[in-house]
Amino acid sequence: MPKTSDYFHGKTIIITGAASGIGRATAQIFAREGANVVCADINEAGLRDTSAAVNAAGSQALALKTDVTSRAQVADMVQRAIDAFGSVQFLFNSAGAAIRRAKFLEIDDALMQKTFDLNVNGTFYAMQAVLPHMLKSGLGVIVNMASMAHRRGGPGSSVHYAAAKGAVVSMTMGVAREYAAAGIRALSISPGPIETPFQAAAQSSPELVQRFLEDIPMKRFGRPEEIGELVLFMCSDACPFMTADTVYVNGGGGWR
Ligand SMILES: NC(=O)c1ccc[n+]([C@@H]2O[C@H](COP(=O)([O-])OP(=O)(O)OC[C@H]3O[C@@H](n4cnc5c(N)ncnc54)[C@H](O)[C@@H]3O)[C@@H](O)[C@H]2O)c1
Repeated sequence: MPKTSDYFHGKTIIITGAASGIGRATAQIFAREGANVVCADINEAGLRDTSAAVNAAGSQALALKTDVTSRAQVADMVQRAIDAFGSVQFLFNSAGAAIRRAKFLEIDDALMQKTFDLNVNGTFYAMQAVLPHMLKSGLGVIVNMASMAHRRGGPGSSVHYAAAKGAVVSMTMGVAREYAAAGIRALSISPGPIETPFQAAAQSSPELVQRFLEDIPMKRFGRPEEIGELVLFMCSDACPFMTADTVYVNGGGGWR
């Protein structure tokens, strides 16, 4: 929660990957706090649902169909957000995916490239597009979605994804430290398994679910709202000394 109760009123967040899962849950949480929410995603139907939920909460949504792997579309997303709401204080880069599972020797160039285009370049483009604007106002918080996978390396199924999320953690740290004295904070979040469509494939295999759960002392998956509330805390005025780091959210597990 913010230290100041109306802290988010009239402020604006851009959320990529807002059509589903963690992005959608975060959009609803910021709407609850009175923020304007710019919802960006490639999934138009999902965007419509998220925007409707934001508007139903009494906040204002702006839905923007955006492919974060396109620098031009991401620049347009930021410009349209500024045109609509006048300023942007927060950016949450949630768009991301492992694309598909593959053993290390089966990762081909196309899979590696796609994984980095989405998870790394998408985050890179959005940060570069929004930072000049945040620097002008001297206030901005960027939250990037990493993953517990970057600590484990993704052996057996997702080294490509783990490596991309490792790049997100490093890039976030670099941006945070480069602009720390200019009023900008940047943080990343490294969750274990969270119940979203991202995990649907894993959940269709009872053995895989069992393997995940054995590794989580709380014996359950996380919920998207639990990540959304953390994004809210990070963006708030509750702990402005916090920047650069990644925060692990995994029910006590995920280290094997
Ligand atoms: N769910 C988990 O267990 C988990 C764990 C760790 C990290 N993460 C990360 O959290 C983030 C959110 O994942 P989620 O679980 O909410 O998954 P999700 O699949 O529910 O949501 C991801 C969203 O990203 C969007 N997207 C995909 N490609 C895009 C593109 N090129 N441009 C714009 N949007 C695009 C999708 O349409 C979707 O709406 C991802 O970065 C993911 O890697 C998820």
